[in-house]
Amino acid sequence: MSSEFVYINEVSPRDGLQNQKTILGSQSRLELIRQLIEANLPGIEAASFVSPKAVPAMAGAHEIIEGLVDTNECEISVLVPNMKGYELANAAGAKVISVVPSATETMNQKNINMGLRETIESSCKIIETAKKENLKTRGYVAVAWECPFEGKVQESIVLDIANQMLGAGVDEIILADTIGAANPSSVTSLFNKCVSEFDHQIFSAHFHDTRAMALANVCAALSEGIRKFDSCIGGLGGCPFAPGAAGNLATEDLANMLSQMGYVTGVALEKLPAIVSYCREQLQEPVGGRMSAWLAKAN
Ligand code: COA
Ligand code: ZN
Repeated sequence: MSSEFVYINEVSPRDGLQNQKTILGSQSRLELIRQLIEANLPGIEAASFVSPKAVPAMAGAHEIIEGLVDTNECEISVLVPNMKGYELANAAGAKVISVVPSATETMNQKNINMGLRETIESSCKIIETAKKENLKTRGYVAVAWECPFEGKVQESIVLDIANQMLGAGVDEIILADTIGAANPSSVTSLFNKCVSEFDHQIFSAHFHDTRAMALANVCAALSEGIRKFDSCIGGLGGCPFAPGAAGNLATEDLANMLSQMGYVTGVALEKLPAIVSYCREQLQEPVGGRMSAWLAKAN
């Protein structure tokens, strides 16, 4: 048993809602965020400053960040795809920004209309600018294990992108299994290389549960010393630009597993079923992690 702290970064307001059939307005998203803060999630990715034409569900990011300016107990981050997104986020008062280079040429083209090199350069420029302006920065490497267009990704490419973002001063690197194609062996292999080259504390993992391996992947990452994970209440999620991307690892599944393993997350498990219900009502469709029925009964 371990009583170590594991940080859960909740991504439902962004990754969870960006690709749903039902679009939630900013007030409904703010209500979701308030409930997540009440449940003591230490970090929340609250919005993305992307083109509303590209992702209509993310319109209103400014309003969301303005609505959260007085939030101190939870680290609120926002996703920015390009310099324009960064400028809009900074103007809205965002304190933590995330850039999202993907590990392949095609995924970057489909996602943000830039090639691989251009995306890395742009991401590094955003990181440098944000650091000068005293913002905290998070750097994703999307499709870190497998790309829906180009297949398996070489580990050396992921390490190289991480290295470049670290050179630009990024505070954290998140390896994202955007389509849920990683397995415990490939997670062990990639994180093992990462932590032998860089400090394990700067890494975080983002898993999708497409092939029912997200929790197993978390265990593999924990064994490599990773103590920070993204997850999404109700297992919502998917990427509009990555065919085959299914729901994220559910926050209730992650928080419950970590708690039963003896890790400390600070998350109020008993408050999660009501948030899952809120999402279900708002989205008018079944949502919930693998153990949400058990959790609802247990509380
Ligand atoms: N936020 C809002 N609007 C933006 C923007 C941003 N970050 N970046 C560009 N735009 C606007 C431009 O102002 C322009 O508007 P106009 O048509 O009214 O003049 C339009 O988008 C096109 O601008 P351009 O620079 O040519 O961008 P693009 O067409 O190459 O699109 C993105 C690039 C990044 C804006 C767009 O692909 C996008 O938002 N993608 C979302 C990616 C995403 O959220 N993926 C899921 C998470 S990983
Ligand atoms: Zn994702």
